[in-house]
Amino acid sequence: MILTILHYPDPRLREKGQPIREITPEIQKLADDMAETMYAAPGVGLAATQIGVPVRLFVIDLAGEDEPSRLVTFINPEILEREGSRTWEEGCLSFPDVHEDVQRAERVRVRALDRDGKPFELDVDGYMAVAVQHENDHLDGVLMIDHMGALRKRMVQRKLEKRRARDARP
Ligand code: NI
Repeated sequence: MILTILHYPDPRLREKGQPIREITPEIQKLADDMAETMYAAPGVGLAATQIGVPVRLFVIDLAGEDEPSRLVTFINPEILEREGSRTWEEGCLSFPDVHEDVQRAERVRVRALDRDGKPFELDVDGYMAVAVQHENDHLDGVLMIDHMGALRKRMVQRKLEKRRARDARP
């Protein structure tokens, strides 16, 4: 089932995700629907807070169009270590048409539960490290715009206001 993705500045994007206590069939269905929604968008990552469900769950798949799926489901993720620093041009399904440089750690170690509730740890760098940090931020109600200076933040807000006005036109 394809879910509706919330767009900035929807206040629900600021909600913190609560830990998931038990991997129920409902949670697995939510993870599956989120993956389907992400692919349909199309996007490479989606957090539960972006569809208005405040729980600690996100999905990432960085595979290109012609590659087999590399879907990873993260439940109750924790970033254990961050190392280095780099700037990456990021996008977000909650900020349509916005692509802006954000500074992140170069490498992270992340621990989470998979779709079956099995714990795993990953050491990731580059694009995957950026994606994990971006999605993990969503679970704390933190958005890419929060990593920008005042000027760029205002620019992005204006761009989104214009887009909303355009979409609202009959
Ligand atoms: Ni995002």
